[in-house]
Amino acid sequence: MTSDDLAAAPAPVLVTEIPGPQARRVLERDAATTSPSLPRVYPFVPARGAGSVVEDVDGNRFLDLNAGIAVASTGHCHPRVVEAIRAQSAELIHYSASDFYLPIYSELTERLDEIAPMSGRVRSFLTNSGTEAVEAAIKLARHHTGRQYIIGFYGSFHGRSYGSLSLTASKAAYRAGFAPLLPGVLHAHYGDGRDIGFAPGSETDGFPTIDHIEGFLMTKIVPPEEVAAIVVEPVLGEGGYIVPPVGWLRALRDLCDRHGILLVCDEVQSGMGRTGKMWAVEHEGVEPDILLAGKGIASGMPLGAMIARAELMTWTKGAHGSTYGGNPVSCAAALATLDVIREEHLLENADKVGTVILEGLRDIQARRAEIREVRGLALMIGIELPDHDASAAVERRAFEKGMLLLGCGGSSVRMSPPLTFREDQARTALALFEETLAEVEAGA
Ligand SMILES: Cc1ncc(COP(=O)(O)O)c(C=O)c1O
Repeated sequence: MTSDDLAAAPAPVLVTEIPGPQARRVLERDAATTSPSLPRVYPFVPARGAGSVVEDVDGNRFLDLNAGIAVASTGHCHPRVVEAIRAQSAELIHYSASDFYLPIYSELTERLDEIAPMSGRVRSFLTNSGTEAVEAAIKLARHHTGRQYIIGFYGSFHGRSYGSLSLTASKAAYRAGFAPLLPGVLHAHYGDGRDIGFAPGSETDGFPTIDHIEGFLMTKIVPPEEVAAIVVEPVLGEGGYIVPPVGWLRALRDLCDRHGILLVCDEVQSGMGRTGKMWAVEHEGVEPDILLAGKGIASGMPLGAMIARAELMTWTKGAHGSTYGGNPVSCAAALATLDVIREEHLLENADKVGTVILEGLRDIQARRAEIREVRGLALMIGIELPDHDASAAVERRAFEKGMLLLGCGGSSVRMSPPLTFREDQARTALALFEETLAEVEAGA
């Protein structure tokens, strides 16, 4: 079967039991020699992928609603991305952009300047991952403001290196055993404050969670003039695919402006078109001071970006660097990704196909009481189920039926397929999802 056939496949095809014999061999070797910290969720062993379909080592074909965890923005192995990687790797695989000048590095930073949701000029620092982009933002914010404190949000996920982990507050397991974390990091309540049962606010009567930051955190714990930055995911990712109420991000922006605090928007997961706009902040017309990108930026090659208003980049030579960050092959993949998103109208597609899925899920919700909430924007969709056991069972059963889903938050599953996801695939996914719910309920 060619890659084109694989990408065109209308539905999953299972040719062996799951996991099959080849997969079981890999799992055995893996269990003996890899770090047990890897948070594997089900025994999926991919061998190749095309578009939104992935084939495992036994030849079973899955519909991929994970996109390699919101990474394969242009689908798996988009021919233009593959060609860009091939061409660049035949020319130059590596030279450290920290120490010398790579043409493709500044070609990409120039493109990021064009697409950044900030009105003035921006400068970018390229990294290998999302967590490194977060680390760079923490350093720049402290360096530029001369202030120490950083505020993050309960429920958020920013990565696992020490600075990012200190901001991450989506699961205690991520932090367990690693204290002390970075000093000077505080947490506030996200969005409508559902985590602590705040009454929902509105654009006109204010937001209790914003009032809590100013009225509590900044009066009882730390004065605002010592806060360098507030770091926020415009849509919570790992913490549950939660969209904050309309106006909340704007209120957060205003709070930052009142106190000279930098607003850092972590769009590692919500960026690059996932919500139907290039950046989720564009839904609210909010301009961050620092924007963080990763995951879908290079369709699967390791790359992240810390994008800041140019006037914030007051740090000097040697203050920050990276041997591999902005590697030329990753930059080539990112440039091809940006071209494909624009030329194949993937923002429009994400919006259109996302609407099909959201509406389809709401129809299913009307028939099935175990769906407590359907939420999301375009192809960043969360489905709240009764509890963690239910979401884990749905994730597992969907896998056994040939559809890849992933849990998020305490009791939700997420759908984050490639931005190339087609309408026919969306309808297949909806049918499989409803069958999965019924089978889980029946204890299949
Ligand atoms: C919003 C957000 N920020 C940061 C990260 C960390 O990215 P990485 O795993 O590339 O380090 C993630 C990863 O899931 C994320 O979702």
